[in-house]
Amino acid sequence: MSSTKAPVITADGLSKAFGDVVALRDVSFAVGSGEVLGLLGPNGAGKTTAVKLLTTLCSIDAGSATVAGCDVASEPGAVRRAIGLAGQAAAVDEKLTGRENLELFARLYKLSRRQRRPRIDELLERFDMVAFADRPASTYSGGQRRRLDIVAALVANPLALFLDEPTAGLDPRSRAELWDVVRSLAAEGTAILLTTQNLDEADRLADEVLVIDRGHTVASGPPEVLKKDVGRDVLEVHVATNADLATAEAAIVQTAEAVIDRGARRIDIPIAAGAAQSLGLLRCLEDEGVRITDFQLRRPTLDDVFLALTGARPTGDGADTP
Ligand SMILES: Nc1ncnc2c1ncn2[C@@H]1O[C@H](COP(=O)(O)OP(=O)(O)OP(=O)(O)O)[C@@H](O)[C@H]1O
Ligand SMILES: [Mg+2]
Repeated sequence: MSSTKAPVITADGLSKAFGDVVALRDVSFAVGSGEVLGLLGPNGAGKTTAVKLLTTLCSIDAGSATVAGCDVASEPGAVRRAIGLAGQAAAVDEKLTGRENLELFARLYKLSRRQRRPRIDELLERFDMVAFADRPASTYSGGQRRRLDIVAALVANPLALFLDEPTAGLDPRSRAELWDVVRSLAAEGTAILLTTQNLDEADRLADEVLVIDRGHTVASGPPEVLKKDVGRDVLEVHVATNADLATAEAAIVQTAEAVIDRGARRIDIPIAAGAAQSLGLLRCLEDEGVRITDFQLRRPTLDDVFLALTGARPTGDGADTP
């Protein structure tokens, strides 16, 4: 998906601290026209901070950023005209209908009266909102509200779109519908930066993924590459007693980089070779006399990715994990 054209969004060594808290440290990336960058990280990783810095809502401590060729720090007005933002907190007015909300945004973006009506009709139609466009937003479901939020960011046809956890709290169906919205916008050439805590979402939508934790980049690359590096399936084995756990640990220590959760009497084993390897490991444990109470082969979670990348579970709000 790389192009020879200049990227629409660039960040070069972006840094931001709030007092002692390093929210972002030396983060760099570029998003081209029609590309989706997924900013992936746990609570407090710095995702919203990155979005705020790039959308001129927060001042940059060090490093630089551009949107549509304009410098974020020195040309904030031009940057604002080129972007759409759907923040983590909804920006819609609950008392107004969806249509009225879009009308308000169209005025904010200074669309002429003549442009406003057709643009709003087009968006409502295209994003399947006609059925509920004339009800107050207070009556919307979570999915409808998120959709309105995103469509509001699209009123002025932005070159660059920033979506901060666009699918948080949505059910699988609404989530899939929003994914389609994102894909179709990218297909039309919008450069999209979206944040997510969901590895699967980044995997499905993003051309490039940047994994951040406590403000630092811990990995970056296309999802296929990251998954190959860190996203192995995990065999989760639960055993009956602490003695079983010790036996299991001794038995598999040479064969796999297992992670032991003593409290839960659980062993997580990264699996590179699918079902065959899983069966082999389970047989090996059985041969050693380990009493297995439960097991499952699961896709890696964000926790597993962080574990693989940083050797530590993701932490919320900078709290240290043992
Ligand atoms: N205005 C502020 N003042 C002080 N600390 C802040 C401020 N904004 C953010 N932080 C801190 O910076 C860090 C990064 O916050 P940020 O909101 O960017 O995380 P996030 O990745 O968006 O998390 P979440 O997934 O919970 O939304 C956190 O430790 C947060 O407490
Ligand atoms: Mg956030």
